[in-house]
Amino acid sequence: MNVVELDHISTQLPGGKLIHQDISLQIQSGEVLAIIGGSGSGKTTLLRLMLGLQSPSQGEVRVLGQVLGRCDGLAMEALRQRWGVLFQQGALFSALNVFDNVALPLRELKTVPEPLIGELVMHKLQQVGLAPDDALKLPAELSGGMIKRVALARALILDPQLLFLDEPTAGLDPASSKKFVQLIEGLRREMALTVVMVTHDVDTLFALADRIAVLADQRLVTVAPLQEVLVHPHPFIQHFFLGHGGGDGAQEIQALRHRLLQDAAELADIGMPTSAAQTAPVQGEH
Ligand SMILES: Nc1ncnc2c1ncn2[C@@H]1O[C@H](COP(=O)(O)OP(=O)(O)OP(=O)(O)O)[C@@H](O)[C@H]1O
Ligand SMILES: [Mg+2]
Repeated sequence: MNVVELDHISTQLPGGKLIHQDISLQIQSGEVLAIIGGSGSGKTTLLRLMLGLQSPSQGEVRVLGQVLGRCDGLAMEALRQRWGVLFQQGALFSALNVFDNVALPLRELKTVPEPLIGELVMHKLQQVGLAPDDALKLPAELSGGMIKRVALARALILDPQLLFLDEPTAGLDPASSKKFVQLIEGLRREMALTVVMVTHDVDTLFALADRIAVLADQRLVTVAPLQEVLVHPHPFIQHFFLGHGGGDGAQEIQALRHRLLQDAAELADIGMPTSAAQTAPVQGEH
């Protein structure tokens, strides 16, 4: 079953700038789909379309069976209760402490008694690696990584079936990023969680993404598993994976990439058709 469907989407900003051109994408239930693309390529805007915060100039967005822009306020409200969102900037309410920020979606339901809210919030804070003491802090008193974790706790507080994450590990240290990956893996095992995640973190991509959607030149260049994306000749993709050093995942990716390219070259030698064999010479490699 498709949880999210983009059908021939084009997005034009009020000033006339075209961000997306004829983008179609189906995201299946239980899948982790990662979106990558250069800065300003329209990744956040694509998420905003899926959340109904912005409308495409052409095409249709369907989420959990509803066509966004065609359902009424009540239906939208019901949808919002079935998904969780972590915005790129954290987007916490600065006047509310950590506890109240995370409790907000529960309180909006108006059906959960306050003692239970207390239990649920403290459990979520623990799940994302925050201490009980952090509950009373204001966002201004938190580090960037802590803000991300509070935002993640808030995104998860209603146990959503669909999770939208915009750069969930940006600004986190490697240990916290690993913890985030484990948390998402755990949630996937517990429930059929579908995740749509914008990230440029290769370790996270490597660990979590079932498929990677690549945005460049206003279009979806490819939507495929990592192995296929790694050997795609588009210059953005080649730069993306070459430009990341450091973490374990990055090294594994380089090794995998080399193996795939080697295999492709051998197949080409014996005259087998292969998409990877068409890969352009990789820039920056000697
Ligand atoms: N509200 C807005 N008004 C005007 N331009 C906007 C608005 N929102 C986004 N844009 C423009 O749309 C384009 C895509 O922006 P978007 O935030 O989706 O990029 P992104 O891929 O998420 O980038 P980043 O990796 O830096 O987060 C950019 O050129 C940006 O300047
Ligand atoms: Mg963005």
